[in-house]
Amino acid sequence: MKLFVYHTPELTPTSTVPDCAIAIDVLRATSTIATALHAGAEAVEAFSDLDKLMQVSANWPADKRLRAGERGGAQVEGYDMGNSPLDCTPEKVTGRRLFISTTNGTRALQCIQAAPVVLAAALINRDAVVRYIMGQQPATIWTVGSGWEGSFSLEDTVCAGAIFAALLKATGATAGEMAGNDEAIAALALYHQWQDDLLGLMHHASHGQRLLRLNIHEDLKYCAQTDILDVVPIQKQPGVLAKN
Ligand code: MLT
Repeated sequence: MKLFVYHTPELTPTSTVPDCAIAIDVLRATSTIATALHAGAEAVEAFSDLDKLMQVSANWPADKRLRAGERGGAQVEGYDMGNSPLDCTPEKVTGRRLFISTTNGTRALQCIQAAPVVLAAALINRDAVVRYIMGQQPATIWTVGSGWEGSFSLEDTVCAGAIFAALLKATGATAGEMAGNDEAIAALALYHQWQDDLLGLMHHASHGQRLLRLNIHEDLKYCAQTDILDVVPIQKQPGVLAKN
């Protein structure tokens, strides 16, 4: 297995696909997707474009859908919810499809949707994703961070490093044997530096600070936890993720 880490959709190759591609948006789209599916959502359908989301979701029964829209960290007016994983309670999401559009995370999913296996990972479901990978043994794996409008995000890269660390532990391989690019080694080093204070790292992260300015403290605490959800969001058709 070779792991390639890409910090943003913009830095991700477009001329080829890996055997398994993993979108990461710790703050907060992939944390929300994992939480919604774990809480019983029928599926999550991701859109980079808000108008397209409205069009497609209009064909879905109103009592079986939830529209989640986020821009700049805040809920988009007219949507049922924003992008808080803490809103994804079983009472709210069970049996419903979550139609979601976020500033960066849904773009990351879109840029890898041609890969044969597409997963969504965050710190909260890292272990479940790693166990899935160990069962499948894909030869090439990409992690694609969402970043923020084209720029690097600490929280996405630390999650890529957390996945890498767990894969190394599970396989017994060395970092040199498994790393597909320099970014993978850098992500691992970032994780080793911050693994005992992931919430502290999120307080340094520019998007963490943006959310704190919006008084969204609880989401940071929730998203900084590791391995709390046994759920693997996997793409069933382009843009549609369900529980594996
Ligand atoms: C994004 O897609 O950029 C994020 O998920 C933003 C957020 O925190 O809602």
